[in-house]
Formats: sequence, C-alpha cells, structure tokens
Amino acid sequence: MGFPKIRMRRLRSTDSMRRLVRETSLSVDDLVYPLFVRAGEGIKEPIKSMSDCFHFSPDMIGDEAAEVASLGIPAVLLFGLPESKDEQGSEAWAEDGVVQQSIREIKKRTPELLVITDTCLCAYTEHGHCGVIKDGKIDNDATCELLAKMALSHAQAGADIIAPSDMMDGRVRYIRECLEENGFCEVAIMSYAAKFASAFYGPFRDAAESAPSFGDRRSYQMDPANAEQAMREIALDIEEGADIVMVKPALSFLDIIYRAKQRFNCPMAAYNVSGEYMMLNKAADAGLLDRDAATLEVLYSMKRAGADIVITYSAKVVAGLLKG
Ligand code: PBG
Repeated sequence: MGFPKIRMRRLRSTDSMRRLVRETSLSVDDLVYPLFVRAGEGIKEPIKSMSDCFHFSPDMIGDEAAEVASLGIPAVLLFGLPESKDEQGSEAWAEDGVVQQSIREIKKRTPELLVITDTCLCAYTEHGHCGVIKDGKIDNDATCELLAKMALSHAQAGADIIAPSDMMDGRVRYIRECLEENGFCEVAIMSYAAKFASAFYGPFRDAAESAPSFGDRRSYQMDPANAEQAMREIALDIEEGADIVMVKPALSFLDIIYRAKQRFNCPMAAYNVSGEYMMLNKAADAGLLDRDAATLEVLYSMKRAGADIVITYSAKVVAGLLKG
C-alpha cells in the first residue's frame, strides 16, 4: 500500500513539474501598493520606520504612480498626512486636501491605475484617534457622518475605491448611502471589515504620524482573540454595501482569512501590514533570511488561506520577482 507505488517527490522533481501542480497562484494582478502623501512640494523622503517606503508630496506622486502602473500593479492605496490637524480632522474632506490633490494627479497621469483611499480620521485629528471624541469617548455615529464626507470628497476627486479603516459601526452604510445620493454609485467600497487591534501597526503609525495621544484603539478595533466575531463584522459590512472585505493584519490572522473565504462569496483582501513587512526586512538586514524568498513565502500563505487581493509594501519588489 502506498509507498513505493506512491512517491510524492515525483511531483517535485523539476521546476516545470512543480509549476504544473502548483495549487496557488500569486500574480501582479493581486497586488495593491500603499503610498503615503504629505502636504508640501517637491517631497520624496524616505520613511524612517519603513524600509524603501517614502513620503511624497502631491506634485511628486504622478511619477511614482506611473512607475507602479508600468510594473503592472493594478491599484494603489493612498494615506494622507495633512498640513494641519484639528479636533474633528477637517483636512480629511478638504477639496484641496493632500489626498484629494494626489488622486487628481494620479488620474491625470495614469487614469487606468485604480486609486483606493484609506478613509479614517486618525492622521487628521489632533488626538490621533480614528473618530471624534465626545465626553472622553469615541462618538460612533458622529464619526460615521464625517467619514461619509471624507469618502465623498475622495470620490469627487476621482477615487475608484473607498477603504474605510476606522472600525466604527455602520460606517459602510453611511458611506454607501452618501455615495449613492451624490451620484457616485459606481465607486466601490473595500472595507477593513475585520481589523484587529494589533501591535503590528507600529511602523505605520510613525509613517502616518497617527499614533493616538492617549489610550489605545481597543474600543473600536477587534480583540485578536476573536474569530467568530470577525465573521459577524464581515457579514455586516457586506450587508451594508461593501464590495470587497479585508482582514488586517494578515500573517497572524490567516485563519480568519480562511474562515471568511469559506463563508462569504465576496472578494477578500489581506493587508500585509507594516510590522509584518519590517519584521522580515529587519531579519533580512541582519542576514538571517533571504528577503525575496521570505516575502514570496509570506504572500503565498495569504493567497493559500483564501485572499484574492494582497495589500503589501513589497508590491513593487514582488512585481519584479514575478516577472523573473
Ligand atoms: C488607519 C490605518 C492604520 C493602518 C492602516 N490604516 C493604523 C491603525 O489602525 O492604527 C495600518 C497599516 C499598517 O500597519 O501597515 N486607521
């Protein structure tokens, strides 16, 4: 029985054989590349906490977008660092805000490149929380109104996909209704549906200058110990009108991606977050592992778990690797 009739190694003997039986594909079509835009002019500055990532001013983002598009990557995800912050985060929906300007620049240069916009107040509020504060607490419904305003201003500037990352209840409904009422029924929503309160956002908070000045995000982001609750979050976002749902972070939540893929027939995105990216980069810098091989292995794990889309700071490198 079995051996020696069955020898699993036959299917691993050559590269062609391995390609023939490969169960999971990773393609440049799956990738989304995050970009950070900050107020100013002529800026392309390395981000200290994140290897090979930069802050761009809106006038410099067109060239970067053109390079991303030329690699075949279908979409970028924009994060904004505004000129100034206030209590409500009002720069978030300013017509000439940093993200709004950048969307117009990208659409002028590379109209085919999809522009996804992170829709959250944390980089725009003085206190660094993802919502507005009333009596020392995050006010859910008031925050949703502002997020809808922010989403609308992104749509007006030409965004293709709105990506709310705040974890307020009902924000997908507020955003969907606001887009419909204003004639943007073709703009898609990719919700950060199951977003966990994670230590792996550390490098990003430096990059986006969005760390909360008091407390933490555990009253809105999910407890990492919960899986069934993540399914409820995802179901609700789909019901409210999300077109794509996301699990974030990805690497320590592969089981969530897997479960969600079994249950929902909706495109699923995995966010390979800043801490996951830097963990690997620092290990590679220290000579402990091969960065390219480890990056591909990690991205395959997300695809294997069921992700259709992978958001990663490695997108440009990976696009190059996949070309061979
Ligand atoms: C904003 C937001 C965060 C990330 C994406 N959108 C930070 C946070 O929630 O604190 C993290 C992305 C990353 O770590 O790569 N709410």
